[in-house]
Amino acid sequence: MQEEGTGLGFSAKAPAPVLNIPNHLTLWQGDVLSLEVIPSDSIDLIVTSPPYNVDIQYGAHRDNLSYAEYLEFSRTWLERCFSFLREDGRLCLNIPLDKNKGGQQSVGADLTALAKQVGYQYHATIIWNEGNISRRTAWGSWKSAAAPYVIAPVELIVVLYKKKWKKTSGSQKSDITREEFMAWTNGLWTFSGESKKRIGHPAPFPLELPMRCIKLFSFVGDTVLDPFAGSGTTLIAAIMLNRKAIGIEIDSTYCALAKQRILANLHLSQAQLTLETHGKEGEINTGPGA
Ligand SMILES: C[S@@+](CC[C@H](N)C(=O)[O-])C[C@H]1O[C@@H](n2cnc3c(N)ncnc32)[C@H](O)[C@@H]1O
Repeated sequence: MQEEGTGLGFSAKAPAPVLNIPNHLTLWQGDVLSLEVIPSDSIDLIVTSPPYNVDIQYGAHRDNLSYAEYLEFSRTWLERCFSFLREDGRLCLNIPLDKNKGGQQSVGADLTALAKQVGYQYHATIIWNEGNISRRTAWGSWKSAAAPYVIAPVELIVVLYKKKWKKTSGSQKSDITREEFMAWTNGLWTFSGESKKRIGHPAPFPLELPMRCIKLFSFVGDTVLDPFAGSGTTLIAAIMLNRKAIGIEIDSTYCALAKQRILANLHLSQAQLTLETHGKEGEINTGPGA
């Protein structure tokens, strides 16, 4: 059991986090559907990429549910995250446009509609052109109109919010440059995906994705959550950008990977972090197996 406060308002009865850097970052191993560690109305921005249900071999998560089961799973986590958000809190939801493995489905449209049913307000959809079309093998009927497949090499980042779009809470301090603001408010983003092999996770997104979302949609000092933290990319981006980071990840191996990546990235700013954390809030708690 965790005795000390984290500076982020977690319950004193919460399980011990995998990694806790007081006032900066907390990573929990657990199931976002049931973990009771995040207070209601406490999160400014969620940036996440949930499982896509395309039969990826994750450790602890089964990624081959029926589509009805997948939508039910999605509804439950969307509801939980809705309660975590502040009134002016936002969700950047990275999902596929559609899927063709195991039957064609309009995943992007269906999850957007589901989120609206849950209570989220719709703001915009960013098209992420990851240009990932080099190793195409699924043509359907090759050079025939019998049953061809059409595949767009893009993903979506659906931008939703809880009650009001205008952010009135937080520091009101933005750190986005003029050039970044002009480029990123154009909702067609073009940059490459991340290598699974390089990161050691089956579906990581590139650091660029949470970096852009965090700078565009949150203030310095805000609290950013990734309920499907995977290899910890959102958390790394958040802490690099002086936001407070919270992650939940169900799989212990990915938690260990995220912890390792976070600590390696923090190494660069370790001196600053040490100055800020020691003496004020206590030492970095690197959790079990540190
Ligand atoms: C698409 S990956 C996220 C990858 C992440 N954006 C990154 O850059 O590494 C989805 C992650 O959600 C995790 N996951 C699946 N079901 C979960 C659940 N119920 N609660 C928490 N994490 C879960 C999987 O283990 C996987 O690591």
